[in-house]
Amino acid sequence: MGARLLPADGDPIRPAPTTELQIEVDGSLVAGVEGQSIAGVLLGSGILAWRTTSVGGRPRGVFCGIGVCYDCLVVVNGLRDVRACQRRAVAGDVVSTQHDPLPGSEESA
Ligand code: FES
Repeated sequence: MGARLLPADGDPIRPAPTTELQIEVDGSLVAGVEGQSIAGVLLGSGILAWRTTSVGGRPRGVFCGIGVCYDCLVVVNGLRDVRACQRRAVAGDVVSTQHDPLPGSEESA
């Protein structure tokens, strides 16, 4: 039996009980638990990409997971360029995906 299959009451670490929370992502409610980063909530709900690149519109999500690469940028409660891997999710957060066209491109006009 792998560690992931260990029943919670038999876990020798005895993790504290979790408190669920919900955030809104592009208009949909997404569930997570207190203490998770926004990236953790997104990944836990199966959302793997939430930003697109300026050139080519390629999907991006978590790359480094430690706040270095800035691949995971989202808009949180109206504040742009928040690193989803570094921002702890708070119940009721309103998150939207981000796409930044290059200045001077047809998209930015
Ligand atoms: S995943 Fe690299 S900064 Fe968030």
